[in-house]
Amino acid sequence: MASLTDRSAASAAEPAEANSVVVLDYGGQYSQLIARRVRECGVFSTLLPHHVDVAEVAALHPRGLILSGGPASVYADGAPVLDPALLELGVPVLGICYGMQLLALELGGRVEGAEVGEFGRSQLSVGVSGRLLAHTPEQQTCWMSHRDTVFAAPPGFTALASSTASPVAAFESLERQIYGIQFHPEVVHTPYGQQVLENFLTDICRCDGSWSAASVIEEQVARIRAQIGENGRAICGLSGGVDSTVAALLVHRAIGDRLTCVFVDGGLMRKNEGEQVVSAFRDHFHVPLIAVDAQERFLGRLVGISDPEAKRKVIGNEFIRVFEEEAAKLENARFLVQGTLYSDVIESGGGHGTAVIKSHHNVGGLPADLDFELVEPLRTLFKDEVRAVGAELGLPERFVWRQPFPGPGLAIRIVGGEVTRERLNILREADAILQEEIRGAGLYRDLWQSFCVLPDIRTVGVQGDERTYGNVIVVRAVTSDDAMTADWARLPYDLLEQISRRLINEIRPVGRVVLDITSKPPGTIEWE
Ligand code: XMP
Repeated sequence: MASLTDRSAASAAEPAEANSVVVLDYGGQYSQLIARRVRECGVFSTLLPHHVDVAEVAALHPRGLILSGGPASVYADGAPVLDPALLELGVPVLGICYGMQLLALELGGRVEGAEVGEFGRSQLSVGVSGRLLAHTPEQQTCWMSHRDTVFAAPPGFTALASSTASPVAAFESLERQIYGIQFHPEVVHTPYGQQVLENFLTDICRCDGSWSAASVIEEQVARIRAQIGENGRAICGLSGGVDSTVAALLVHRAIGDRLTCVFVDGGLMRKNEGEQVVSAFRDHFHVPLIAVDAQERFLGRLVGISDPEAKRKVIGNEFIRVFEEEAAKLENARFLVQGTLYSDVIESGGGHGTAVIKSHHNVGGLPADLDFELVEPLRTLFKDEVRAVGAELGLPERFVWRQPFPGPGLAIRIVGGEVTRERLNILREADAILQEEIRGAGLYRDLWQSFCVLPDIRTVGVQGDERTYGNVIVVRAVTSDDAMTADWARLPYDLLEQISRRLINEIRPVGRVVLDITSKPPGTIEWE
């Protein structure tokens, strides 16, 4: 399998749609992962909710369709159903887990709720490899997660494989170009999963495997030029994170100095972050940049506010207001560049009425009277793909691999109390020490995020025979692929000891250090 960046330049300008598949999300835990694995095979993928109109799928001209897994039983009341029109699009269809069961049910196979479910590692016995399971061994391990089971393939279909609990664990009909697998090819515990996906994408759907994150650059540059036009001007709010940085560089490549970046320092950034961003853009990339010191303004607005959503709203609004003011000084700056990612915009299979867990201010919290047209060149990319694009654009490694940082900044890590300058200073110093130690231990890139949280709690301590009554710092470090799920990082004890010692010794108001050992779910990565 080729890597993200070594696709041939010849295909770079080809629109993604010419070489793409649609993944329909039936609410499965791994739907995003399927979309990513497809992309790793060099095929662009679009993840759409299962209830999408068939016409919308057809409009994308996909070369294949993948139906994801999902949590429901096909027999449950209100369970997502298969629109038979999807099978008439004239492209191959692969059903995975729930997707396979839906196909079996629709086409006259036998699906039953089994007494015993099949969860975790399982042994797959391949009877006939067919096209779907070609180049995989007769006996292989795979990963399953289901209770409903296919007992008989639909008439005219070939049953390809079975497992202990699944009489039909894979089937295909070459005539109808419909394929199904009960196991999950997208997870690492299915060693031949990527081969099965490649068989489907390359041999069955005839995708050419030429898509790459880097190939997006030319395509996006052309799109941006078309959107902004010959004379249009754009403004981009830089946060210092990889997303807004890469978005700005793409737009700069498209329209040059008609892009002006605005870096708003609301006093909520990490230590030295502002200086680094300003110098990288002005001195290294030579992108026009306005740095606005808005600390007083932001902190003024945050007085008396401790509710997390209220904070996000205030900060999001204030950012936009500052942009608007700066844009008004530039002739014709109608466009606002945002580093919105694919994971921010995809609607999960749950679809209607999914709970709002948090309103991320770069997507949900924009004011209704927004006076810009949005330019979002990263809307189709996952985070790791944005990093690949950034590296291709010549972004220095320390930017490419910068850990994600929330738009509202340190404000949402001051929990329970008001965001004051004093608290921000404590948290900023704590964060700097943590980052220094994590980098020193060579762990920075292994962690999705590592940061400190300052809750509104004071605790008693004793230092040099004296009673202290100090602040608590929470150390939070997580590993993750995409922030959808995360595990708390098992940092070495010696490192934790060093971090704790430095935080207390070097920051006077800190009296206690605790470690957050909550994964996501059930927690979220940030505390607010
Ligand atoms: P949670 O806390 O929801 O975070 O598990 C998932 C990822 O999103 C980041 N995050 C935000 N990013 N505005 C942002 O731009 C926000 O309001 C916000 N809240 C959380 C978080 O740092 C993590 O990477």
